[in-house]
Amino acid sequence: MSSKDTFEIEDKYLAPFFVKQKISIEKGDGVFVWDEEGKMYIDFTSGWGVTCIGHAHPVITDALIEQGRKIIQNPNSGLTYSPARARLLSLLAGILPSHLTRVFFTNSGAEANDAAIKLARKVTGRPEIISTHKSFHGRTISTTSATGQAKHRDRYSPLMPYYRFVPYDDLGALENSMDKNVAAVIIEPIQGEGGVRIPSDGYLKGVENLCKKNGSLLIMDEIQTGFFRTGPVFITSSFGVRADFMTMAKGIAGGFPFGAFVMSEEVAKKLEIGDHGGTYCGNPLGCAVAYGVIKHLIDSNISENVKEMGRFALDLMGRWQQLYGNAIVDIRGRGLLLMVEFHSEEIATQVKNECLAKGLLLTQTQGNGIRIFPALNIKKEELEKGLLIIEDAIEKVINGNS
Ligand SMILES: Cc1ncc(COP(=O)(O)O)c(C=O)c1O
Repeated sequence: MSSKDTFEIEDKYLAPFFVKQKISIEKGDGVFVWDEEGKMYIDFTSGWGVTCIGHAHPVITDALIEQGRKIIQNPNSGLTYSPARARLLSLLAGILPSHLTRVFFTNSGAEANDAAIKLARKVTGRPEIISTHKSFHGRTISTTSATGQAKHRDRYSPLMPYYRFVPYDDLGALENSMDKNVAAVIIEPIQGEGGVRIPSDGYLKGVENLCKKNGSLLIMDEIQTGFFRTGPVFITSSFGVRADFMTMAKGIAGGFPFGAFVMSEEVAKKLEIGDHGGTYCGNPLGCAVAYGVIKHLIDSNISENVKEMGRFALDLMGRWQQLYGNAIVDIRGRGLLLMVEFHSEEIATQVKNECLAKGLLLTQTQGNGIRIFPALNIKKEELEKGLLIIEDAIEKVINGNS
């Protein structure tokens, strides 16, 4: 097949939910991918924050082969025990905040959030969920209802009832919205899809305190930020915040579809047999891959690389603001979750397209932004190469040579 055939078949048969980029990726290696004609690209998207140790990493392929040869799905699924699941649970127990003692595995982030919302209602006996403007929590109907962006939500009415929204990073607004009907507040410690929005110091601790005072639960959505994306394994803990539920996916298995929600013992004690489940619920294959990926992240001291590369990137990007301040509103980020916000969607689109032509893949975010979230093990020269392609593209777009 050629790219042309692939375009034709996908355009004909695939549900038309995406504005597609005309690029058909056949293989990858580290931060590089190749299309069907052999053109190479640098991937600064990580498949939307997922391929945290790069493409085709042997840790992942070995785990897939080794576990695949043994067993992929347990007989009677979650009703039987699995050494692969137990190994992953032991590893997680060493890195999770110590009060989050109970884990359940899912296949995606949305499923993890969906379950946390459902269980928070059961545990508190209350209906309301508070979420924040510009948040993104998933694409199931309950997580769509919890998402604070009209473009992702309002076309699907009737939405799930009993969801309220408050501005992000505004404690006063949250305080005013709290009452004894609130089961939980669901929040991202840094909003990812919302444009890499980092809250003010003390905000998340304030959210935790308001939840405690009101008897509501705190669901911290670490689906994008978790597993060292911003430096620490979970940024919630670095903010000194104690959540009742934490949800995770994306980097957890480096590209294999997997996720989890974790909860405190206090919450777990209020749940009963049958309160949740699922056919795959920690299938041995997903567990083996997640184990390999997380162990590799820990053993390679990835946190240091993320912090160092993040600092390097922000330094370099800082000069874009000086040089092209008329086009750039802001440069921000934490670790390897970075964002350039332009004055208009048109500029962001032109920069993204210019980069694509030069062999760099980027994610456009909130229309006027470019989110940069490469593999966490990216090398300095790879990061610099990609950033210089962006710099060049901005220069071209601003000077009208695009
Ligand atoms: C913060 C956050 N929560 C939830 C989700 C949904 O995860 P998934 O696409 O795995 O269902 C995403 C996906 O981008 C996300 O960024």
